[in-house]
Amino acid sequence: SWTTQNVVEESVRAVRAQVGDKRVICGLSGGVDSAVAAALVQRAVGDQLTCVFVDHGLLREGEPQQVEKDFVAATGVQLKVVDAQQRFLTALAGVSDPEQKRKIIGREFIRVFEQAAAEVVAEAGAHGAQVEYLVQGTLYPDVVESGGGTGTANIKSHHNVGGLPDDLQFQLVEPLRRLFKDEVRKVGEELGLPAEIVWRQPFPGPGLGIRIVGEVTAERLELLRKADAIAREELTRAGLDRDIWQCPVVLLADVRSVGVQGDARTYGHPVVLRPVSSEDAMTADWSRLPYDVLARISTRITNEVPQVNRVVLDVTSKPPGTIEWE
Ligand code: XMP
Repeated sequence: SWTTQNVVEESVRAVRAQVGDKRVICGLSGGVDSAVAAALVQRAVGDQLTCVFVDHGLLREGEPQQVEKDFVAATGVQLKVVDAQQRFLTALAGVSDPEQKRKIIGREFIRVFEQAAAEVVAEAGAHGAQVEYLVQGTLYPDVVESGGGTGTANIKSHHNVGGLPDDLQFQLVEPLRRLFKDEVRKVGEELGLPAEIVWRQPFPGPGLGIRIVGEVTAERLELLRKADAIAREELTRAGLDRDIWQCPVVLLADVRSVGVQGDARTYGHPVVLRPVSSEDAMTADWSRLPYDVLARISTRITNEVPQVNRVVLDVTSKPPGTIEWE
C-alpha cells in the first residue's frame, strides 16, 4: 500500500541497488525536488554523495542559507558551494530582454555547475573513486510531459546531463520519477527536511533575474528581495501558503511614478503582486486574496522599501498572461 514510509524505504533500496559503492553527485537548486531527491540518495548511500550548490545571486531572501545551513543540518550531506554572484551580475549587465536573460543565466549556470562537477570528480578520483551517477529531481509529470511546458523545460536543461561535457559520463539517478509534487513533499517531511524547504513555492530556475523587468543590478535585486520577503511573510502569517500556488513579486525597474512618502515627493518604482492558484502551472487563475492581507503587504513594502512607492495587483489569468512576467 502507498504510505510515505514505504515509498522512502523502497526508494532507498532501489538507489542502493543502482549505485552500489560508486560515487554520486547532485546539483541543488534550492527547490523542493532537488532537495528531496538529494536527501533520499543521502539516506541511501551517505557520504558517497556530494551535492553542488551554485549561488547565482538570484535567489530570494534566506534561500541560500536554507540550502547551506538548514539542508545540511537536516541531512548531513557533503556540500560544495560555489559563490557565482558576481559572475552572473557581470554576465547580465546591460541586458533587459527576457529571453536573452534566460539564455545568459542558463549558460552561466551550466558552465559553473560543470566546473564544480569536474572538481568533485577530480577530488573523488584522487581518492581512488569515480563519480558515475548524477541525481536529478525529475517528477512523474516531467516524465509524462518530457519537456512540453514552457518554463519547466528550461530548468531541466540547467541540471541536465546534456549540459555537461562529453568526457564526464554520468548515469542518472531519478528517485522521484514516479511521484507527484504533493507526494514529494510528504517524502521530504518523512526525511526530516525543514518546512521552509518542503513547502517552498515553485520558483523559476532563472530566479529573480526574470522578476526584474529591465536590467538586473545588485541594487535592484536587493530591493526586490526585500519586497518579496515581506509579501511571503504576510502570506505565511495569513495562513495562505497552501492555498496559493505561488506569488511572484515583480519589480518594474524601467517604470517610475510619482508618489509622496513621508513629506516628500518621490519618483519611485512599482512592484507587482502576482498571486495565482493553479494545479500544474499550465493554466492559472489570479488568487482572490483578502483585501486586508493585500493592504498589509502594500503598506509594509512602501514603508520598508523606500525605492518602491506603488504596489499593484495582477488580476490576469493564464492564459492570456503567463505566471511570470518574463
Ligand atoms: P509561466 O511564467 O510560463 O510559468 O506561466 C509556469 C511555471 O514555471 C515556472 N517557471 C520556471 N521554472 N525554470 C523553472 O524551473 C524556468 O525557467 C521557469 N520559468 C517559469 C514559473 O514560476 C511557474 O511556476
